[in-house]
Amino acid sequence: MTARNLLLLPGDGIGPEAMAEVRKIIAYMNAELGAGFTTDEGLVGGSAYDAHGAAISEGDMEKALAADAVLFGAVGGPKWDDVPYEVRPEAGLLRLRKDLQLFANLRPAICYPALANASSLKPELVEGLDILIVRELTGGVYFGEPKEIIDLGNGQKRGIDTQVYDTYEIERIAGVAFELARTRNNRVCSMEKRNVMKSGVLWNQVVTETHKRAYSDVKLEHMLADAGGMQLVRAPKQFDVIVTDNLFGDMLSDVAAMLTGSLGMLPSASLGAPDIKGRRKALYEPVHGSAPDIAGKGIANPIAMIASFAMCLRYSFNMIAEADNLEKAIAEVLDSGVRTGDIMAEGCRQVGTVEMGDAILAAFKKLSA
Ligand code: NAD
Ligand code: IPM
Ligand code: MN
Repeated sequence: MTARNLLLLPGDGIGPEAMAEVRKIIAYMNAELGAGFTTDEGLVGGSAYDAHGAAISEGDMEKALAADAVLFGAVGGPKWDDVPYEVRPEAGLLRLRKDLQLFANLRPAICYPALANASSLKPELVEGLDILIVRELTGGVYFGEPKEIIDLGNGQKRGIDTQVYDTYEIERIAGVAFELARTRNNRVCSMEKRNVMKSGVLWNQVVTETHKRAYSDVKLEHMLADAGGMQLVRAPKQFDVIVTDNLFGDMLSDVAAMLTGSLGMLPSASLGAPDIKGRRKALYEPVHGSAPDIAGKGIANPIAMIASFAMCLRYSFNMIAEADNLEKAIAEVLDSGVRTGDIMAEGCRQVGTVEMGDAILAAFKKLSA
């Protein structure tokens, strides 16, 4: 069997706490399921800055480029609020996305049945919710040039970020959204702001043309992104796949996360284009950040990180049964009333990060036997 090479980048804050729970699952899969994972570790974010003065070292970038998949925890925190912008913790994540060309960010928002009450919306609005946000991840205002603060010389400064999209960037992310829709409920909603942005006009045109050319069997709808945000909290179940740009996707996926009960629940996969052998670079990370307010307390919810590893099993290694079992294990543990603080409800048993990880591993072992 070929080795499956993983690079683990736990990062800062609750990142290492959540990653520790995934490490236990990997160890079990190697020992009992013959999964053959090899793991290497690296530093990213504030922890890399403290060690190397950079948000990720060149050595760890090389490891990331060579790995079959990268598992990423979270970066950032108040300790690094004053470090120079170029080496702030978040720069490590942005460099990984850009240099690995991970243009497609898949952010599923699934409301586990047991958590319908934990949502900020009425249970009937989110019960059975299963939407997929496909966020463009290597373009737009995150990376467009110029990006700077200039001194206007009259006591005023000007902050500039530039939103740029080329046809090929929109075409390839639209293609990913349409392909994925075909494996789901066959519907795509594209969101932009063509009423105020030229890039929005182009986005709308290119998505429409891509649809007409190759995916006319999929139902396509367009929505202005602000209205899309409103619809996400009004009637989220109307959506199947949402495709949108880097910044709108960032915001809309945090909104979608809360529909499912907690930011601590949402996984994500960031994928590159397949090479001629069909292999694609990939990084898997929770949607949440380093949660400085709860870091070090052992109370973080590890589910987003564990579910990100399930996505890794599915998308990088085609281990579909294992991915299904791991997701099922999460659902079973939630059904049994075990909860971390962020999703706690009356009548449930509150546990910490390690206990939640142990409970999921135990359920996974039973399902894998
Ligand atoms: P955050 O996601 O870290 O936290 C927002 C809120 O959600 C906090 O109250 C936190 O306690 C809670 N939360 C998040 N994850 C949780 C979990 N697993 N279990 C329980 N509660 C959880 O967002 P923030 O506070 O805006 O940002 C903190 C830092 O994280 C910033 O430096 C930011 O740049 C960074 N950040 C990093 C990533 C990433 O690494 N991918 C993503 C978002 C934010
Ligand atoms: C996310 C985060 C990142 C983003 C930050 C930490 C760079 O918010 O992954 O959602 O803005 O993309
Ligand atoms: Mn975000």
